[in-house]
Amino acid sequence: MTIISVENLKKRFNLEAGFFARFGRFVYAVNGVSFSINENESYGLVGESGCGKTTTARLLVRMYRHDEGSIIWRAGNDVAALTGRALKNYREKVKYVFQDPARSLNPRMTVYEVLTAGYRWSPSWPGHAEARREAAAILEETGLSARDLERRPVEFSGGQRQRISIARGLIMKPELLICDEVVSALDVSVQGQILNLLLDLKSRHRLSLLFIAHDLKVASYFCDRIGVMYRGELVEEAPADNLYQTGRHPYTELLFRSARAGHFAAKNAAREGGAGEAEIIRGEAATALAEITGCFFAGRCPRAEEICRREHPLWRTLPSGNGTAHRVRCHRIDD
Ligand SMILES: Nc1ncnc2c1ncn2[C@@H]1O[C@H](COP(=O)(O)OP(=O)(O)OP(=O)(O)O)[C@@H](O)[C@H]1O
Ligand SMILES: [Mg+2]
Repeated sequence: MTIISVENLKKRFNLEAGFFARFGRFVYAVNGVSFSINENESYGLVGESGCGKTTTARLLVRMYRHDEGSIIWRAGNDVAALTGRALKNYREKVKYVFQDPARSLNPRMTVYEVLTAGYRWSPSWPGHAEARREAAAILEETGLSARDLERRPVEFSGGQRQRISIARGLIMKPELLICDEVVSALDVSVQGQILNLLLDLKSRHRLSLLFIAHDLKVASYFCDRIGVMYRGELVEEAPADNLYQTGRHPYTELLFRSARAGHFAAKNAAREGGAGEAEIIRGEAATALAEITGCFFAGRCPRAEEICRREHPLWRTLPSGNGTAHRVRCHRIDD
């Protein structure tokens, strides 16, 4: 069952000043994104910095309003039309865990206050005594202890702070948890612990997850399906487990190659005095600053032909092993 479905979502920011002003007045942050997430599914949104992942997530929780397209919650609830009590309810069902726990946790609050700051204004607020019991329970589920409720975020390590953020996201019993780069600021060993915690919570609470990452390898490990995002749109969507072998879009291939090249790339580039794969991938702004007619990736694509610069590619559906659709937006793929 679909829990949320997003159709042709668009959001552009008006920029009158600042660095981008010289390119024109708009940043096309989200440029026609469509995907849906099923109950108890983990959907990954992957792409390099600036491609519009966070903006998409913020549109989903209605931190911003979209310019075009639709967001439908549980067959039939148009998120753009929600007001008052219905909007409050929706915001309890869809929770956002932020990228940077150091900045998103108020250092002056105790953990109890952090966990309940939003909850207090909710129609389902049960009063302090019960809320304290719930906060203790969720904190223990995330691997901390009830005693930690009286401590302050600065007393915790990065990984523990991310656990507090996750607990805050879960205290109102959401159905969809949006995890925006929740592990990217952490050491690799801690990353694994947090990912396993999320998998555990997902099955225990039958959560759906929107998992945002720039690291395709982390996302492939964690997610059921993945959407690869480039310049504000999805260019490929497929089951996660073997995207490494089945990924067909030249951009997906580039992401995997550069992930593999990883930490060697910078070194090699320095030694060879030229551009390594990592350089190529950072070589161009990931955000669209003008309306593009052809394929958004054509300017960087090793396989681009004339048609790619002229026509925006439509989705093509490819056969995939387990019955889940594999779709790709590329002129140069033969099926
Ligand atoms: N409030 C805003 N006002 C103006 N421009 C914005 C705003 N929010 C985002 N942008 C721009 O929109 C584009 C997409 O940003 P977004 O944060 O969604 O990317 P992202 O994929 O989450 O990147 P990252 O991996 O770095 O978090 C960027 O060019 C960004 O500068
Ligand atoms: Mg982001």
